[in-house]
Amino acid sequence: MKLWSGRFSKELDGLVNDFNSSIQFDGRMYEEDITGSIAHATMLGKTGIIAQSEADKIVAALREICNDITAGKLELTPDNEDIHMNVETALTARLGDTGKRLHTARSRNDQVALDFKLYLKKEILEIKSRLLHLQTVLAEQAKKYTGAVLPGYTHLQRAQPSTAAHHFMAYGEMFKRDVTRLEDCYARMNYSPLGSGALAGTTYPIDRELVADLLGFAGVTNNSLDGVSDRDYAIELLSAISMIMMHLSRFSEEMILWCSWEFSYMELDDAYSTGSSIMPQKKNPDIAELVRGKTGRVYGSLMALLTVMKGLPLAYNKDMQEDKESVFDAVDTVKMCLDVFAPMLETMRLKPQNLRNAASRGFINATDCADYLVKKGLPFRDAYTVVGKLVALCIEKGIGLEELPLDDYKALCDVFADDVYEALNLENCVNGRTSIGGPAEQEVLRQIATLEAFIAEHKEDDK
Ligand code: ARG
Repeated sequence: MKLWSGRFSKELDGLVNDFNSSIQFDGRMYEEDITGSIAHATMLGKTGIIAQSEADKIVAALREICNDITAGKLELTPDNEDIHMNVETALTARLGDTGKRLHTARSRNDQVALDFKLYLKKEILEIKSRLLHLQTVLAEQAKKYTGAVLPGYTHLQRAQPSTAAHHFMAYGEMFKRDVTRLEDCYARMNYSPLGSGALAGTTYPIDRELVADLLGFAGVTNNSLDGVSDRDYAIELLSAISMIMMHLSRFSEEMILWCSWEFSYMELDDAYSTGSSIMPQKKNPDIAELVRGKTGRVYGSLMALLTVMKGLPLAYNKDMQEDKESVFDAVDTVKMCLDVFAPMLETMRLKPQNLRNAASRGFINATDCADYLVKKGLPFRDAYTVVGKLVALCIEKGIGLEELPLDDYKALCDVFADDVYEALNLENCVNGRTSIGGPAEQEVLRQIATLEAFIAEHKEDDK
């Protein structure tokens, strides 16, 4: 018999029972549900809304129920619809009338909002610690490759000289923003909705702050209607996770390109690549491809929840039960992706000679050549035109700028002298780029140090 069967004269249709129930997916919040109920029962006892002795019994029985679920001794069933009613039914089965007092001054609407926040707060810390680990791996890899010159690209055309370390540290910045986005999201969701009731608060003398305190929230939500109808925190988290996935996906895409024969910049460890069932020579970057692919799935979750919420009148509507599967799937996916991505990055190796060879083809020092003329007094636009002509000449001759004889330089502009070859040397081109954020070795070492300081600071925050 349903907890709510009082005003009904018929049993719920069997198919509808399955359709309506959420225990298949919200069962994973059993610890949060029970922790929330323990705090609620404690508050009910302290405020005298129920007798202290009854509150104590409820708390003890809830602990047992939690252990029993963990041990697989208590079966969660769709007949009790969701995790909230499964726990309450088990409690009442154990304590009789005392168990029936737990739901005083509470609704499933504020209860589910509470459970979801508790669950997601925990998951945010999990995702954040994985991101910090990935950043540590990234910093270590960057340190190995501060001198590995490669062609930087725009439009996937060779553009200007950079280094592998500089390239990696670009991702370091993205992941820094991701960490702070998770922290922002955590801080904004860190207000307890319990005590909002069904939608309009309650007439009992509850102590919302006490519950919030017991559960580690920074405070309580400020409006009971909003407290039960808000899912912004879940959407914000999905958006932050989508952004993490987007960054992982771009990184994956580059790894896939770099592992191709065409680039041959990178080799993945055998443990992080797969073979082909037919082509014996193949070594495929499946893991990076899957991370890229799963990004679409996470974006789907974000769009799903935004769409579920867009037309809902206040306050709770059953549509909102659809929030959980999307968010759980996104959280599981990003954690799994981070778990495989970090060791894949840690074990990959670059082929610096191939990077260097690619850098010496494609005129990536052409800007430096123009800058050379500017330093000798030419206006940049004039220098730009001269170098354009030089590049055309080199293409005709099938050589690089550094191989062009000085006479050819002088024929186009007599400002050129022997020191132009020095200026065109790729290592000099990179190490001259000392502007903040640039690829010069010293500057990238500073960027790495900044990342390491960031990691230490944000690990501290968790304590
Ligand atoms: N299982 C429900 C959910 O996930 C819990 C809240 C139900 N509240 C209600 N009034 N039916 O949203």
